[in-house]
Amino acid sequence: MSELNAKLRSLPARIFKNMNRKMPASPVKSAPRDPREWIKLAREKFDLLPMRTQELMDRHELVPDANAVVFFKDDIEREAGVTLERLAANPEPAAIAQAIDEIIRWLTVSQCAHAHREGLYFAHAEPHMAQQWERIIWPIIKEEDFTSTLELACGHGRNTEFLRRFAKSIDVIDVNQVCVDACRERFGSQRDGCSFRYRVTSGNQLPVESSSISFGYSWDSMVHFDKLVVRDYVFEFARALKPGGSAFLHHSNYGTIAPNSSWTKNHGNRSDMTAELMREYVKEAGLAIKFQRLSGRADGWGIDDLDCLTLLFKPVAS
Ligand SMILES: C[S@@+](CC[C@H](N)C(=O)[O-])C[C@H]1O[C@@H](n2cnc3c(N)ncnc32)[C@H](O)[C@@H]1O
Repeated sequence: MSELNAKLRSLPARIFKNMNRKMPASPVKSAPRDPREWIKLAREKFDLLPMRTQELMDRHELVPDANAVVFFKDDIEREAGVTLERLAANPEPAAIAQAIDEIIRWLTVSQCAHAHREGLYFAHAEPHMAQQWERIIWPIIKEEDFTSTLELACGHGRNTEFLRRFAKSIDVIDVNQVCVDACRERFGSQRDGCSFRYRVTSGNQLPVESSSISFGYSWDSMVHFDKLVVRDYVFEFARALKPGGSAFLHHSNYGTIAPNSSWTKNHGNRSDMTAELMREYVKEAGLAIKFQRLSGRADGWGIDDLDCLTLLFKPVAS
């Protein structure tokens, strides 16, 4: 021991000085809400991150000064800020991977909200609704209890127009205030015995009370939602549905071809969601599948097995 002490004493003083000097704090500690700092750190530690995170970053072209990150920086900071602050306390690879998920969640929500704020989609899509309803949707949902319906991502209400004929009340929800306003203008607060409530979501929440909904519905919208966002919504349906209630969700299956990809770059702007992931999320959330099938050219989409139609339900506790 005394030999070791003697050796230590003989080391030059500057070595001790360097050992005691503090390592510079990671920039995510000084700017924890800034997605660019997290992406910079993730690129520095790239080889230490899980393969899934590496693939997510590459397929979303996540670099610190990517145009999309710069453009949506404020939105990401607003929605992801609290989580990023928490993760910045210990920015190890596992925390960096979580931060990247959080950034992708809110980047894709912001992109999708922005893409649908205005445009010709709503007018173009309206004339196709009757046929889609009769041929594809109604045969799957006709046995469900529409009493208190929730429609997620309503757009300008072409689906609401059909749902209102069977529902007593509809919670009409969208991430865009302009879409909710368009529906309010179209349907008002009451129409033919159905009452309407209008709500804006932050992008992954259902702003309704727990166990208040008998039927959830979303058509031609979740196809664009990143799998992280779809998972959030599945858990929200688990909370919002009454026991025995069900939800019909039209979502992407394109993740089988392009896992961990960005909806903005894929065929038909489909996300990285899959039928199999939906079955996993449903199970994790304590829900069950009543019906599921793939949807492709026969339903009017460009390629086979592009999408998936899932009818899930909340089991009645035994
Ligand atoms: C392609 S439009 C479809 C609208 C409607 N379902 C229809 O069939 O006409 C997509 C809709 O999803 C909404 N949206 C996008 N991201 C959302 C999100 N994260 N949560 C809720 N709504 C979202 C958009 O504002 C838009 O109204």
